[in-house]
Amino acid sequence: MKLSLFFLIIIICPFIFFGTIKSSNQKEINNHTIEYEPTLNKTTDNYSKVVALTFDDGPSSYTDEILDVLEKYNVTATFFVVGTNLNTKYNNTMARLIKLGNEVGIHGYSHKEFTKIKQSKVVEEIEYTNKLLKGFNIEAKYIRPPYGSINNKLKKIIEYPIILWNVDTLDWKYKDALKIYNNSIDDIHDGSIILMHDHYLSSVKALDLIIPKLQEDGYKIVNITELFSLKDINLENGKTYRSAK
Ligand code: NI
Repeated sequence: MKLSLFFLIIIICPFIFFGTIKSSNQKEINNHTIEYEPTLNKTTDNYSKVVALTFDDGPSSYTDEILDVLEKYNVTATFFVVGTNLNTKYNNTMARLIKLGNEVGIHGYSHKEFTKIKQSKVVEEIEYTNKLLKGFNIEAKYIRPPYGSINNKLKKIIEYPIILWNVDTLDWKYKDALKIYNNSIDDIHDGSIILMHDHYLSSVKALDLIIPKLQEDGYKIVNITELFSLKDINLENGKTYRSAK
């Protein structure tokens, strides 16, 4: 009797063990879709210089690798996503991106230049993309027009702060980690908004050079919300921002 009970426990234990692992993973996946809490701790953080990292054109198959690097250095960023890339293939990537405290802005739905399409189309580009983001239980906080192309008429109809940049790493052009690093590192100053893209492997490698150098130089690396909050600047809809100065 005792022996059969012993064997019964031996047989059942792995099921209980693996069953627990599976259910805790599932719970975590569910949590990914509901948590959206950009980290902001103004009172306890010591900082002297602060910069924001931004990534355009994703999500892509390299976004997870960008997230790996950000996570490695305990840094969050702002991702300006393209609506057409928000397909189910990247659901887990987006959920992870949000869960890690990164924030999301809109870089158009089709990546068409806003100044070259009808105003009503611009509104549609933003609305379509926001609708897709609502599937992740988030709303976009900012707009970054494709190619940074904007005019005064569009500023009047865009009901979001428009975030541009003042440091272009030119990662889209160089596609070489060291060149990207050398091209941008000296241009970065307190309040900078750094433009990168999360759809090149070279950007992943460049990021792994840029972040440790900035941290070594005493920079705190944050997302857009944190950057402007730390600089006590209130962002206004329809206004363009290239840096936090
Ligand atoms: Ni772009």
